Amino acid sequence: MNNKKFYITTPIYYPSAKPHMGHAYSSIASDVIARFKRINGYDVSFLTGTDEHGLKIQRAAEEQNSDPLSFCDKISQTFIDLSNTLNLSNTDFIRTTEDRHKNTVKKLWSLLQENDQLYLSKYAGWYSVSDEAYYLENEVEELDGKKISKSSGSEVTWMEEESFFFKLSDWQKPLLDFYKNNPDFIQPESRKNEVISFVSGGLKDLSVSRTTFDWGIEVPNNKKHVMYVWLDALTNYLSATNYFNNHNDFWPADVHIIGKDILRFHAVYWPAFLMAAKLPVPKQIFGHGWILSGEEKMSKSKGNILDPLELINQYGSDEIRYYLMKDVIFGLDGKINIDNLRITLNDLANNIGNLSNRIFTILNKNYECKVPQINDGYTINSDLLVDKKTIIQFIDKYELHNYTKFIHSYSSTINKYVNDNEPWNKKNNSEQNIKNILFSTLVALKNIFILLYPVMPLVSIKFLKSLNVNENEIKIDNINEKLTINDQLTKPDILFKKYE
Ligand code: ME8
Ligand code: MG
Repeated sequence: MNNKKFYITTPIYYPSAKPHMGHAYSSIASDVIARFKRINGYDVSFLTGTDEHGLKIQRAAEEQNSDPLSFCDKISQTFIDLSNTLNLSNTDFIRTTEDRHKNTVKKLWSLLQENDQLYLSKYAGWYSVSDEAYYLENEVEELDGKKISKSSGSEVTWMEEESFFFKLSDWQKPLLDFYKNNPDFIQPESRKNEVISFVSGGLKDLSVSRTTFDWGIEVPNNKKHVMYVWLDALTNYLSATNYFNNHNDFWPADVHIIGKDILRFHAVYWPAFLMAAKLPVPKQIFGHGWILSGEEKMSKSKGNILDPLELINQYGSDEIRYYLMKDVIFGLDGKINIDNLRITLNDLANNIGNLSNRIFTILNKNYECKVPQINDGYTINSDLLVDKKTIIQFIDKYELHNYTKFIHSYSSTINKYVNDNEPWNKKNNSEQNIKNILFSTLVALKNIFILLYPVMPLVSIKFLKSLNVNENEIKIDNINEKLTINDQLTKPDILFKKYE
């Protein structure tokens, strides 16, 4: 039985408009981790979905003269389509308008109530519909006669209404203790201080229900209130595990991958809700940076969005995945543009593509494309092998950029080995020597494409097929393993395109 389990989630996105590159980025990064864990022997649950309640969605639907549910049905489908286009290996897609989710949220609410964590009062303060967030007086400023949030720049309005409150202030000390006892909870390290200083500054009780609109999950036994959309949304991670129906194979989550904009919700509110309900908290939160367009965050309100579907149509999903993983440091902001995309893809073709091409050309010409016979006792030079510990560590530390760069530099090492040893040069090499070099290079190529699989699944599956390695044999365990002598291979057709 396989009991190494791994549960990873993306944020659930607002279906207020169609998905953009930022959404694609979080999803791709999560998929790379999910696929790596799977080929490293874990039973992986990978969740993504859409966050469909709240005033933001209600208003977006009204603008389209649509009822909120049909509006969500339509746009949620574009997120499902994107998951397919990106070739995500998600095992589930959750919508917060589903019954399985509503029931979980209601159950969580009752637990909070049973544990005396909620009380009825009146909220008066600033609220941003765009962020679905409450802000303190010192978190807002005035710009061009408008009040905006200092952190997100979105407009805030004054709000006063009857509301249930969650006793967040009681959780300041337990949260600070929790961060201290679980120093890896918030990743990357640099984000941790931000959260600790926010919590150390004191926590006010949190308004967790609304009475001035109705597009949300009803508060049990009080039809006047719908739940605050973030209490609703965060609980999706629990709903998908079917936690309260004894099918809990996966909770607590191993990691929630999110953007840094929603760190406070995930690293403060979410563990506080769970602790207050006496439920296990997730093991890690990773807050990545912004994908920038020019110098600015890509966002719908700024109108500077790169459409992932257009780019994928033109360059391919594997290619966009590779570019984003290699060129953006996971955890920091990263600028992307077409020129750099092309440079990175050409570099890939010149390095890994070229290596495969050279070797298969010789194999085809002189060896009927069969795995050459090495001599007895021949061992592959250890410089040509992959240290599995190193690559597992890259993923464990979420250094997706270093993982991807490692594949590139490993391939450069192998190219240099081929250049130095000239398996085409029959004057300087014995026949046996040439066979040994080709054999070693084939093993290295197999390694390259096993490592590349989490980032570029399609081309990796295609290449490995030409080595007779099936998808279910793509495993970290098979790295550095020898090939079968005399096995009939096939030269793969073009793996990577070049751009002018
Ligand atoms: O906040 N760069 O949904 P959302 C990188 N529904 N990542 C970006 C990005 C950018 N320019 N823009 C968006 C919500 N993202 C809530 C989440 S979770 C319980 C509820 C990514 O549609 C990034 O992951 O506004 C960010 O956190 C998320 O999309 C926000 O998506
Ligand atoms: Mg947002």
